[in-house]
Amino acid sequence: MIIIKSEEEIARMRRPNRMVAELLDYLEGMIRPGVTTKELDNKAEAFILKRGGKPAFKGYHGYPATICASINEEVVHGIPGNRRLKEGDIIGIDLGVVIDGFFGDAAKTFAVGKVDKKALKLMKITEESLYKGIEQAVEENRLYDISHAVQTHAEAAGFSVVRDFVGHGIGRQLHEEPQVPNYGPPHQGPRLERGMALAIEPMINEGTWEVRVLKDGWTVVTADGKRSAHFEHTIAITKNGPEILTKL
Ligand code: CO
Repeated sequence: MIIIKSEEEIARMRRPNRMVAELLDYLEGMIRPGVTTKELDNKAEAFILKRGGKPAFKGYHGYPATICASINEEVVHGIPGNRRLKEGDIIGIDLGVVIDGFFGDAAKTFAVGKVDKKALKLMKITEESLYKGIEQAVEENRLYDISHAVQTHAEAAGFSVVRDFVGHGIGRQLHEEPQVPNYGPPHQGPRLERGMALAIEPMINEGTWEVRVLKDGWTVVTADGKRSAHFEHTIAITKNGPEILTKL
């Protein structure tokens, strides 16, 4: 069942989601060669706690950190650690915050110093495909109109769409129905309604769409070792169209 939120509930979702957006901005300012992903994680946790939020991922199914930090061929769910960023890497940072019983969730992929052209294109197309999906998040459309728009944009650029992980409904829980795939046939799936809140999160690969999970039980990597990018926004469907809750 897809939970429809009242305007009051959507209003309560603004704070955690705005904090996620602010924190992604703050972390972007820390990204440079030599920084470890654990340092980013520590700063992220302190940022959230200082402002009265709670990290949403920490403890979720045993996940050990505040952020997910996924470098190059890592797709999502990279666990922060002592690895140092180096010039030319791309790093996806995904994070969630809960405040007053409601969740916020967003992700962005950043360049570390100067990166090659293909990496820039991968990041640009992935972010654009997220926005193509968001444009379809309007009343009366169907769910897979979002999915199809993402897929079409990514594949037209020669990239592939991860199948095994998808976006999701969000609200009083981090993951609610429906699942929001980044691929699929248009004009199908449940009809979209005012009051739905969705986390749309394309994961787009340079090479094959296939992925596997490392022995740590979390880190998802591409099967061919080529790079992947990830962008995510939490949005609410309103009578005036999609409202991006994780945008400043
Ligand atoms: Co998400």
